[in-house]
Amino acid sequence: MAKILEDIRILDFTHVWFGPYCTMMLAELGAEVIKVEPPWGTIGRLGPGALFKQVSTTFYALNLNKKDISVDLKSEEGKSIIKELIKQSDVVVQNFVPGTLERLGFSYEVQKELNPKIIYAALSGFGQSGPYSKYASYAVIAEAMSGHTFSNARSIRGDGPPSSLAGAIGDIGPATFAAFAITAAIRHRDRTGEGQMVDINQTDTMIAFNTCSSVGHALWTDSGQTPPERRRSDDPTRIGGMYKVSDGWVQLMGARAKALESLKEALGVEELTNDMLKGHIEKMTRREAFKFLGDMGFPSAPVYEAHEAMDDPHLLDRGMWVKVSQPAVGEYRVPNFPAKFYKTPGEVVSGAPMLGQHTEEVLTTMLGYTTEQVKALEKEGKVVCWRE
Ligand SMILES: CC(C)(COP(=O)(O)OP(=O)(O)OC[C@H]1O[C@@H](n2cnc3c(N)ncnc32)[C@H](O)[C@@H]1OP(=O)(O)O)[C@@H](O)C(=O)NCCC(=O)NCCS
Repeated sequence: MAKILEDIRILDFTHVWFGPYCTMMLAELGAEVIKVEPPWGTIGRLGPGALFKQVSTTFYALNLNKKDISVDLKSEEGKSIIKELIKQSDVVVQNFVPGTLERLGFSYEVQKELNPKIIYAALSGFGQSGPYSKYASYAVIAEAMSGHTFSNARSIRGDGPPSSLAGAIGDIGPATFAAFAITAAIRHRDRTGEGQMVDINQTDTMIAFNTCSSVGHALWTDSGQTPPERRRSDDPTRIGGMYKVSDGWVQLMGARAKALESLKEALGVEELTNDMLKGHIEKMTRREAFKFLGDMGFPSAPVYEAHEAMDDPHLLDRGMWVKVSQPAVGEYRVPNFPAKFYKTPGEVVSGAPMLGQHTEEVLTTMLGYTTEQVKALEKEGKVVCWRE
């Protein structure tokens, strides 16, 4: 079936989590993503996360569907390979500290000269301009600056110390936003023929994501008023929160009137308390309690460790887990593309590439190098080719 981005080629200089997750989303929509790594591999091959077959587990998760070439961008030979690839690409994406790709010789001005329609997505921690622009960053940095770290702790312990979000949301969220921005820029280019540079960073995006907290405050202060004290949910009659059951926990949020009526009926009571519900479900398993609450109409879920979701019957039914193949690992399971297009579905087709797995293929088929020329570059350490 047709893929929505199948005619789009992306030259991908990204590393670690933020950039790679963005280009992976585009690759799952069918874009041809050519990842460019230095001969020693990007830092994302070594962390974060445990090593599996000498490569970070996170690298296997964040680089699906990509081709991989390994080129030394500090060599003239490497630079001329990249110049030719920019001419043949629709999008360039990188998430270095601002100035790094420019120092390597590939500013937007240079890219534009090579390919006037190029879309250049410069991802970073703090943006391409402003006083903090040149600072390095990771997910937790943007989470801290945007208020998430503060409110995460407050929501757990009231006045406890700040606490970062799990799961690198400060990478994955901005990455998804970056993929959205790139597809919007492609839409503009397709309509007008005009490429552009897009500056997407973790901090601005996480600020945008925390809109309810900041606006909730500004509504009061911008009109000269003092915001009310934050309400804490210690009302014993309020149904909701985390419930301990026989094999873990169940989460319930936002008790609906209809659901409360059904629960009263099921428990045979006129008035409900949270303790009544706790007592009723505590001997159930997570799945039993979830079914009970879900059938009543409560928004609820079993609290899983991430890998437990791989066996959930609903998620299996939704096709949310697919197997990919990778030369060093063999087959492994990964999440499927989450949005279901009825005509142009996204698809996960291949595991994370080996370092330089497609160097020879790309140089010979796209750039007209001979196998001997590639071998000579390989011998000089200017490129790395993975061979079975
Ligand atoms: C993630 C981060 C902290 C890593 O820092 P870093 O690797 O020390 O610094 P940079 O990303 O600026 O530089 C990458 C280095 O690899 C080099 N490099 C990258 N690709 C190369 C290639 N193909 N060939 C040769 N060198 C290459 C660069 O030249 C640079 O080295 P140099 O400074 O000696 O020239 C930093 O990139 C960053 O803050 N990025 C923006 C925010 C972000 O995305 N964070 C990651 C969230 S998961």
